[in-house]
Amino acid sequence: MRICCIGAGYVGGPTMAVMARKCPDVRVDVVDIDAARIAAWNGDCLPVFEPGLAEVVSEVREKNLFFSTDVDSCVRDADIVFISVNTPTKTYGYGAGRASDISFVESCARKIAEVSKGGKVVVEKSTLPVRTAEVIRSILAGSGMDFQVLSNPEFLAEGSAVRDLENPDRVLIGGDDASPGGRAAIDLLSSIYERWVDPSKIIKTNLWSSELSKLTANAFLAQRISSINAISALCEITGADVDEVARAVGSDSRIGSKFLKSSIGFGGSCFKKDLLNLVYLCEHFHLAEAAAYWRAVLDMNRYQKARFSRKVLDSLFGNIRSKRIAIFGFSFKENTNDTRESPAIDVCADFLNEHAHLAFYDPRVSPKQICAELGVDENDPRVEFCPSAEEAADGAYAIVLLTHWEEFVLLDYEKIYATMKKPAWIFDGRNCLDHRLLLEIGYNVCGIGKGNLS
Ligand code: NAD
Ligand code: UDX
Repeated sequence: MRICCIGAGYVGGPTMAVMARKCPDVRVDVVDIDAARIAAWNGDCLPVFEPGLAEVVSEVREKNLFFSTDVDSCVRDADIVFISVNTPTKTYGYGAGRASDISFVESCARKIAEVSKGGKVVVEKSTLPVRTAEVIRSILAGSGMDFQVLSNPEFLAEGSAVRDLENPDRVLIGGDDASPGGRAAIDLLSSIYERWVDPSKIIKTNLWSSELSKLTANAFLAQRISSINAISALCEITGADVDEVARAVGSDSRIGSKFLKSSIGFGGSCFKKDLLNLVYLCEHFHLAEAAAYWRAVLDMNRYQKARFSRKVLDSLFGNIRSKRIAIFGFSFKENTNDTRESPAIDVCADFLNEHAHLAFYDPRVSPKQICAELGVDENDPRVEFCPSAEEAADGAYAIVLLTHWEEFVLLDYEKIYATMKKPAWIFDGRNCLDHRLLLEIGYNVCGIGKGNLS
């Protein structure tokens, strides 16, 4: 059995590494057109940081897991081909700013049809608009060979990818369950996952339910964050504490406690893109009210980020020009080097517009990456990159915590306080620090949904 995965990104790399480890008798080739990315997967410094990933890769690489730019021959020789390429929001033409750009997926389908010598099972791993399988199917049909198309969306979250892949809540497989060929393909893919996933967790559906379930799952998760963030604004005015409210509300077993952590807003490559995609689909099918409903989740996220930067500005007397502000964390969440759609981007852009001096520290994100996201040069006098959180805070008027890295929780804030300008402020954009303790040290403290503590 040979598996080929097209796309060696945040999903393709970790997913296939875990699959290779769980299926030692299966050869897994991960291919990409980005030669630098493939070289990194073959080197010591992997292009994706995920806890536990380096160990998995080193165990199976060059045994039954291979990274290569030789797309043609790896696709040709595979029995199952996963398509795990990027599906960003379209930036041009019809549907720009909302619809998914499926051009990379289409070119994969064309490549499979072009190089294959016989039929295969083709698996959509990328997140796609509902009915994309039809596009893939019609491209493959032109080859005259017997292809089966499945939808097998990935639900891993970054920062916990290896854990999520090894122990998923569910595996979703959508296929043409009305035909014997379709059912055989579903069973073949299921048998791969059954090597390590309990069969009761493998959900089999028709293609369209599977494609739509992925968009829906991300929309529901994002909606919960926007809901609690909307409540956080009310907490700040009324004296309620958003963490207490979330705990009380989340203890209702019908609601559940996860994804109710108020924050500066959600980031990451998926939520915004997938919500926009859902909005676009609703509009496309003339469901204006449904589109407006999901768009509001994004509007609330934008509002939350803007509200936070405004709060920092107002607290520092409406003036942060030339003031040193320590930025703790830049990745969109902890335990990842990914900065795509990080809320830190908008918040820091607001500060740069006010001509603040930003001193950055993130344990995993490089200065080059931060500059690329903010559109500034590394030598821009408004930015500085520090080797530690302590150095970033030295001489700062405020610490602005944007990512919940565990090391920020463990810092010696008393020592840091002594090195800062007074009044020293901490803006905890993740509500992850001990605010009482910080107040006792002497900081002015501002969390999310907690009102000003000073
Ligand atoms: P990514 O940008 O990290 O990786 C995609 C890779 O595909 C890139 O390396 C790119 O060079 C490669 N590629 C594009 N076109 C190609 C082609 N024609 N041939 C070969 N390689 C090609 O993207 P990602 O974060 O891994 O996401 C991939 C898909 O998975 C997206 O649809 C995304 O929505 C979905 N997804 C992502 C996550 C996540 O946490 N990042 C989780 C679940 C689902
Ligand atoms: C998400 C989905 O969780 C995952 O199932 C899907 O496959 C891809 O998209 P990801 O974006 O990697 O995963 O991370 P996630 O843990 O969902 O966090 C997304 C954003 O929401 C982060 O910025 C995070 O900090 C924020 N968040 C999350 C909150 O603000 N509050 C919460 O309670 C949870």
